[in-house]
Amino acid sequence: MIFPNKFQNAVKEAKSLVQPALDLSSKMMQEVALNSPVGLRERITQTVERPGKKLRSILLFLLAKSKNNEINDLERAARAAASIEMLHLASLVHDDVIDGSEFRRGVNSIHSSFGNKIAVLAGDYMLAQSMIFVLEEKDRRILQALAYSASSLAAGEILEIDLTGNMNISFEEYMQVVEGKTASLLVACAKCGAVLAGYDDETVEDCKELGLHFGIAFQIIDDILDYGIDAESLGKKKFEDLQNGLITLPLILYFQKNPREEMEQLVKNASDSDSANLIVKKLKSADCFNEAKSIARSHLSKAIEILRKLPPSRVNNQLRKFFETMAERKN
Ligand code: FPP
Ligand code: MG
Repeated sequence: MIFPNKFQNAVKEAKSLVQPALDLSSKMMQEVALNSPVGLRERITQTVERPGKKLRSILLFLLAKSKNNEINDLERAARAAASIEMLHLASLVHDDVIDGSEFRRGVNSIHSSFGNKIAVLAGDYMLAQSMIFVLEEKDRRILQALAYSASSLAAGEILEIDLTGNMNISFEEYMQVVEGKTASLLVACAKCGAVLAGYDDETVEDCKELGLHFGIAFQIIDDILDYGIDAESLGKKKFEDLQNGLITLPLILYFQKNPREEMEQLVKNASDSDSANLIVKKLKSADCFNEAKSIARSHLSKAIEILRKLPPSRVNNQLRKFFETMAERKN
């Protein structure tokens, strides 16, 4: 039996603080799926109804609630969150094509069920729907947040592809990929939440920084989980990054202070499970997973530091719990 860990509990408690907003944005997304043209309906519904953690919406709603202890305009906040979740789902549909991933959240990915052509177009349709969610939004800062993060997602993903197979990838290049492909969307969530809460410009900037640190930490942990470290019910295969030639933080840290030759050979053979397991063993004994985790924790500490500038409240406490436990997540 798997017991809920601290992060799962923190997510559950956080959800309960913003449940009506989460329900409304889920309903909006389901309506989009249901009203899609016939050829897309089943495919989009499959993506929208997959149970996700909804971390992006939770961050947006908690920040939107953090100033006045209520969300000022529920409908508007739900639209912004639905737009962000739809953009996120679109990028995952495309990402699964790029990575050739068979599963997403424990079920077949769109491309493995319906093929690449459909997956690319379904992702495009979802990207367009993401924009439609915010057509009526009057505050340009929300539109900017969404547009910039969509563009950073694509740029980050392209940089990652360009760096694929490059075993000399630097820490800085890795961080550039992480900021683009993951943190940019969390920056957008935090910015939208802060704008909707009615914070002044300086605080909106602080919140963007908070989103950036949370997003970086989130992707570092994702990259550690890909090695199967502390992973439970991942909903996807392990070693996908490694087998796709993606050199992530644990390996970058290894190469910084160990002889390269033997490890490079193992990475080239990572599709063989004995080699992949040996890589994990070596990374463990060189303490690279712990080191990567402590880099993630240092970003979470920076996010918590920024939280101290926001008004103290139950919502603020919940955000702190969310950040304090994220590095312990198992999926
Ligand atoms: C998952 O990374 C992928 C992303 C977070 C971003 C993917 C972005 C694109 C494909 C660009 C598309 C852009 C738009 C605007 C639609 P991962 O492969 O490390 O994580 P995973 O293990 O969950 O697949
Ligand atoms: Mg992927």
